[in-house]
Parts: sequence; structure tokens; C-alpha cells
Amino acid sequence: MSEIPAIHIRGLRKTYAGGLLALAGIDLDVQPGEFFGLLGPNGAGKSTLINILSGVVRRSSGTAEVFGFDVEREYRRSRQLLGVVPQELAYDPFFTVREFLRWQSGYFGLRHNDKWIDELMAEMDLASKADTNLRMLSGGMKRRVLIAQALVHRPPVVVLDEPTAGVDVELRQGLWRFIRRYNAEGHTVILTTHYLEEAEELCDRIAILQNGQVVALDQKEALLRRGSSHRILTVTFDRDPDGLPEVLTDLLLGSSEAVRTFRVSSGTHPLGDILKILQELPAEIIDLHLQEPRLEDAFTDILQQQRDDGD
Ligand SMILES: Nc1ncnc2c1ncn2[C@@H]1O[C@H](COP(=O)(O)OP(=O)(O)OP(=O)(O)O)[C@@H](O)[C@H]1O
Ligand SMILES: [Mg+2]
Repeated sequence: MSEIPAIHIRGLRKTYAGGLLALAGIDLDVQPGEFFGLLGPNGAGKSTLINILSGVVRRSSGTAEVFGFDVEREYRRSRQLLGVVPQELAYDPFFTVREFLRWQSGYFGLRHNDKWIDELMAEMDLASKADTNLRMLSGGMKRRVLIAQALVHRPPVVVLDEPTAGVDVELRQGLWRFIRRYNAEGHTVILTTHYLEEAEELCDRIAILQNGQVVALDQKEALLRRGSSHRILTVTFDRDPDGLPEVLTDLLLGSSEAVRTFRVSSGTHPLGDILKILQELPAEIIDLHLQEPRLEDAFTDILQQQRDDGD
């Protein structure tokens, strides 16, 4: 039972020079094989956390380990286990794509890695750019290279900091297919993204960061239930159903001509009751659509709640 977590973080704090508190005491474990989402608004501290794991940023205090190896005291061991797609490339090396991937392989002590490099370039649709200098690549192409470089040493843990920002639809789909397969092979994946529908589709468990603190940490399904217990019901009538009963106007979110949208909370207003009332109206129902809670709603609710509690 006592499996070593892929990522183990306790009381992690970071104060940047100048006094800005970016991480205010983070506790977090990610288990081997998880597809984990690290979400939060701009400036929440996601990249700071990731950069501490990869040794780019020094923590102020607390514990941060990759498979039990401390990210500073045992840097080489922990770094070897980690592949990181950084949010930004700090510099543009004067390398072609292939040279860069070989150089990165060399950093991890891999001298004969061309087969895997070719496979990565093919997956990222970079094969035609293999001999192009990194400085000549478009933004989206560069991001593909960043994704490939994170994986050159087949790390057991991959951390992707906004991997799909500025990436076209086709590559995004290809990337997720690839990362899903990598995860299905037993590797741990940690994903940061502002595209919440991506997190909703991919992640098993999600942490939400705000002001350097974990404000929610749960299975995706639990977050969806907790954040937004309501669903959105859209009803199209054959004509304007004016004069809705009060019980329905209380739930009304919007109306335009013959269409009405309602917020349905299963606790207070069971869907069955609402449908009965709708059917008794003089206007005929011609279409019904029920929108399940989305991660985006849960996310906004949780952040709003935190702000209210802070006031
Ligand atoms: N090198 C730095 N020096 C000083 N402050 C920094 C530095 N890097 C980040 N910060 C500050 O730390 C806080 C957390 O930033 P961080 O980049 O970790 O947020 P993030 O959650 O990754 O945001 P985003 O979604 O915009 O990428 C922000 O207030 C940011 O301004
Ligand atoms: Mg960031």
C-alpha cells in the first residue's frame, strides 16, 4: 500500500525577491499513473510550483520530492524522473530541431536515442522541420519541440505547463492522443491548462490553486458535483410561453422569443417536477436540452466562493 508518490509536496512556500508570496504552503501528492490537473487563474502559482519541481526556481521552504528524491538535494535523480514542457522557453538555442533533441538526450546521458527522437518528431509532426533551426520556427512549432524535448528520456512523470497554448487543433488532438497513450503505459501526467474542457476530458484528479494555495483538490467527478450542482435546461416552445408560473420564473436564466433557459438544482427542484409544470403550460414543448455541469462552472463557483470567504 505504501507506494512512493510520484510527486510529494508538503508546506511548500515561495517568496520571490521583492517579497511577493507566490506559494503560501502547498500540500499535494500525485500518485504514480495519475493524470493530474493543476488549474488556477493567472498568477495563482502553477508555474512556480512546476519550476520548483524541475529545479528552475528555488523554494523558500517546505518539501518537494519526485519519487522520493528531493528536488534540490537530489537534483540529478529527481530531474531524471521528470519531463517538463515549460510555459515559455527562456532562450532560443542555435540548434536545429534534431540537434536540440540530441543535445537534450545527451543531458540525460542518452547517446543512442535517434529512434525515439524520430518517433517523437513524427508524433509531433516535426519530421519536415528536423533540420530547421529553432529560431526559424513559428510559435506553435516551437511548442511542439518543447513537448518533444520533455519526453526524450521517457520520464516516468511528465509535467505540461500550458502545452496547447497557441497550438492548432490538429496538433492538439494528436498531442492528447499521444499523452493519453503515454499515461496508459503507466506514466504520470501533470497538466496545467486554461482550457478547462481539456482538463475535464483528460484528468482523473484536479487541484485548483489560487493565491498560492490549494483551494480545491478532488476527483474530477466530485468537483463537478460539488462546484455546480445545477444543470441548465433549455426549452423551446412552439410560441412565446408568456406568463410562466412563479416557481419557474425563480429558475429562469434567460429568454428569447420561444426559448427559455432554466437553472435546475436537483436538490430543490427535481427535474420531474419542472417537466410536469412545463407540460401544463398552454405553449407546446418542441425541444428540450439538458446541459450537464461543466468543469468551467465548478471552477468559477469555487474561485468565487474563495473570494467571498476572503471578504
Ligand atoms: N521570477 C519572478 N519574480 C518575481 N515574481 C514572480 C516571478 N515569477 C512569477 N512571479 C509572480 O508569482 C506569482 C505566481 O506566478 P506563476 O507564474 O507561478 O503563476 P501561474 O499560475 O503560472 O500563472 P499563469 O496562469 O499566468 O501562467 C505571480 O504573482 C507572478 O507575478
Ligand atoms: Mg504559468
